[in-house]
Amino acid sequence: MNSIHPIGVFDSGVGGLSVLRDIRKELPNEDLLYVADSNHAPYGDKEAEYIATRSVAICQFLVGQPVKSIVVACNTATGAAVAKLRARFKVPIVAMEPAVKPAVENTKSGVVGVLATRRTVSSENFLNLLARFGSNAEIIVQACPGLAEQVEAGDLRGEKTRSLLQEFVCPLLEKGADTIVLGCTHYPFLAPLIRMMVGNEVAIIDPGEAVARELRRRLQGIGQLSSRDRLGTEQFWTSGPTASAATLISQLWGVEVEVKRLP
Ligand code: DGL
Repeated sequence: MNSIHPIGVFDSGVGGLSVLRDIRKELPNEDLLYVADSNHAPYGDKEAEYIATRSVAICQFLVGQPVKSIVVACNTATGAAVAKLRARFKVPIVAMEPAVKPAVENTKSGVVGVLATRRTVSSENFLNLLARFGSNAEIIVQACPGLAEQVEAGDLRGEKTRSLLQEFVCPLLEKGADTIVLGCTHYPFLAPLIRMMVGNEVAIIDPGEAVARELRRRLQGIGQLSSRDRLGTEQFWTSGPTASAATLISQLWGVEVEVKRLP
């Protein structure tokens, strides 16, 4: 491991770009490698075993680059695979988890809504989170099948995306939620639309910034922050077709990027 090596970041698809954005802000000098497992997205409706196998394969690729650290920018992969990844790979692994704790601390109505994939809400990690923090507030868990797919399709404000969001968000508001956790890294891209639906009084919690800060702390703790003073670069890889990935990633990342095919 060397401090000039890049940081690897992966997700089932493009959702993890919301985390990459926060990492870029927090660590402007680091080189970042991003892998979108687009050929196997979405993870949210797949078996944990399958997601774990994919996550191991991607981490193997990243470690071979080599990277100095890995960010699992996917709540679903965290729930299904993080223990296996930590047991298998030596580099520090920073992972997502739905921000239930900060939401419970934030709520005034005592009702918190969590939006996440089906696989995340049935994972042991998530059930443990609920057991730890759920006694201090009512937590309404809403699985959102089909929502990450809308982001994968680049549809951030179309008719179908709106109606899915309405279906998932309205029940939370009806039950009095004043705090909504974005428990899937695809959903921050829908935050403007969610904000329009919930108004300004409801807090929307995206753990991306906290994860980026945690990554900084971990690297600092082991003396592995880059000491370069130039701006860091980004490289993008996909397991799916590169042309469509390049269009979508450029749209979400905000600049024209090149995307390579994952070997
Ligand atoms: N972005 C992912 C998450 O944070 C997974 C979405 C999916 O592939 O279903 O959970």
